[in-house]
Amino acid sequence: MVLAMAKAKEESTRISSVMNEHRMFPPPKTFARSSHVGSKTALKNLIDAASADIVGFWEEQAKDIVWFAPWKKPFVWKHPLAQWFVGGTTNASMNCLDRHLGTWRRTKAAIIWEGEPGDTRTLTYQQLHSEVCKAANALLGLGVKKGDVVAIYMGMVPEAVVAMLACARIGATHNVVFGGFSSEALRERINDSHAVLLITQDAAWRRGELVHLKAAADVSLKACKSVKHVVVLQRTSERTSMKAGRDHWWHEVLAGASRVNEPAKLPSEHPLFILYTSGSTGKPKGILHTTGGYLTQVAYTTKMVFDLRDDDVYFCTADIGWVTGHSYIVYGPLMNGATIMMYEGAPNWPEPDRFWDIIERNAVSIFYTAPTAIRAFMKWGESWPRKHDLSSLRLLGTVGEPINPEAWMWYHSVIGGERCPIVDTWWQTETGAIMISPLPGATVTKPGTATKPLPGILVDVVQKDGTSCKANEGGLLVVKHPWPSMLRTIYGNDERYREAYWSEFPKTRSHPGWYFTGDGARRDKDGYIWIIGRVDDVVNVSGHRLGTAEIESALVSHKHVAEAAVVARPDEVKGNALVAFVSLKSSAKGVNLDKLREELRNHVADEIGHIAKPDEVRFADALPKTRSGKIMRRLLREIVVGGSVNGDVSTLEDAGVLERLRLNDDE
Ligand code: WT7
Repeated sequence: MVLAMAKAKEESTRISSVMNEHRMFPPPKTFARSSHVGSKTALKNLIDAASADIVGFWEEQAKDIVWFAPWKKPFVWKHPLAQWFVGGTTNASMNCLDRHLGTWRRTKAAIIWEGEPGDTRTLTYQQLHSEVCKAANALLGLGVKKGDVVAIYMGMVPEAVVAMLACARIGATHNVVFGGFSSEALRERINDSHAVLLITQDAAWRRGELVHLKAAADVSLKACKSVKHVVVLQRTSERTSMKAGRDHWWHEVLAGASRVNEPAKLPSEHPLFILYTSGSTGKPKGILHTTGGYLTQVAYTTKMVFDLRDDDVYFCTADIGWVTGHSYIVYGPLMNGATIMMYEGAPNWPEPDRFWDIIERNAVSIFYTAPTAIRAFMKWGESWPRKHDLSSLRLLGTVGEPINPEAWMWYHSVIGGERCPIVDTWWQTETGAIMISPLPGATVTKPGTATKPLPGILVDVVQKDGTSCKANEGGLLVVKHPWPSMLRTIYGNDERYREAYWSEFPKTRSHPGWYFTGDGARRDKDGYIWIIGRVDDVVNVSGHRLGTAEIESALVSHKHVAEAAVVARPDEVKGNALVAFVSLKSSAKGVNLDKLREELRNHVADEIGHIAKPDEVRFADALPKTRSGKIMRRLLREIVVGGSVNGDVSTLEDAGVLERLRLNDDE
């Protein structure tokens, strides 16, 4: 039986994709008319030209950022180590700030910030520049040198942006650790990166309560020898213990610092940041990004995908602790001189309409969030957005996981008023910037697909042996040509970098070697790419490989279902049996659960086919998630296979969920 399974696994390189979605949404005419790329033909021409000369295309885009000295070689490739714009010197902070000071944008709002308790602040480009220069001088004063790593452990406050840009300004590499992580996770990330200084804050507001960041950091720092100084922002009136000689108040070190600071002239390949992300096993991977190539692709994609205009108010709900916060709150929007709406707290504080309230009061025009958030909004009910005037919105975006067509349609009608294009953007911490996405003025969108690769990006869906899949045939998503904002390595571990991303399709005499994304996908007859999910979230049932995301999508399209996660349990007959964990909407109150269980199984059979019908449906009040909202299927798998969880749970958001699921199982 074990042997048979192993064999089945080996043989089944084919991923069956069974999702059927035919609705199409062309760009609204008025939108297309004023957008950067306003027609299908214009986009096709752009893609054709870029494909004919990928490096030349990116060189053109690199001219849109500011360089101290131009590059000599646009691209140097020693597989799998890439260098872009070699010989050029630039600076990320200069590109975000100084470049705007000689223009009218000097007085434009760079950041409109709102604290969870309701306090607000606005920083113009000039003011943000002043703060960044002072912070840069303060860091230099504390002995931070070019090439040093600085850890940042903060909530969503403007000073977090200031801290990142101050590091970039002096050539220190920032390592932002999400404020929701535990002291253990912080310790591991500080030690792996050898950070010399930590920037944190006394406490942050979250759902009406204080998250004591400095106290958590103090626990980590007991075992972090590399950290010499800690700078602490005072956000609240909480009493905070400060260690003499090591800890310094942000306002005190900045008070004495000069507003004048020349941005360091850094080589294009200078490390800009490290950001840790979880691998399928083992310790987190420190994804390393550098300067010139990253800035080029991030600036370009921000402008094109969000179709940025100077009068936009751009609101991305990500946390700066994730790559979305780096690329599409800080670097991309600021390089483009945009006005960023930044919010500190929870979306349902004090009520589930906080985002809609922010959008109405600030006339937000671009809104970028995650499918998991959209499903939460759906669960809370449309009465909350309906209470607000959302007519300022003109473009919506999503990122992070495949969006269920149901959620897409809800987003389109309830939030977008059927007026706003939706950009479903596929990318990864590793890719640094958006890779697959509609251009909102040119692409006909379909609910549930990120559509096609952007100009200058070469992706394919292939079989294990490297042959391109036919239309609608499931396969592995690969990137066939290096791109400017790609990760350069896993910090301190080139071997793991090679193994994790370049070993599936290795370079040989006859093969150039491709980057493997870890995602399964299919391309439909129009060339649109449908992400089926991570290949480790792919299950094999009766010889067919099914993406759990598709089955989940079918479940979520049922009127009583809020969220669903599907995992596999080994089965004698089918290889795998499907177990669906389902959390219900409040509308399901009083419904007979045994009947609903049958109804859901049949619903999936109706939506996708008998093959995808879950063998078991388990109801749960909540699903185990990472703090960024990804369902941790690995833990659910352990529950269905062994009845308990032994694996690493350090990235789990709510530890109680597991206990409740386990108890559920014993019943
Ligand atoms: C993985 C990367 C990129 C910032 C947030 C996540 C999944 C991401 C989409 C999308 C379908 C998506 C992929 C990818 N993913 N965007 N639009 N449609 N799947 O960053 O934590 O590095 O995760 O998220 O599986 O590989 P990340």
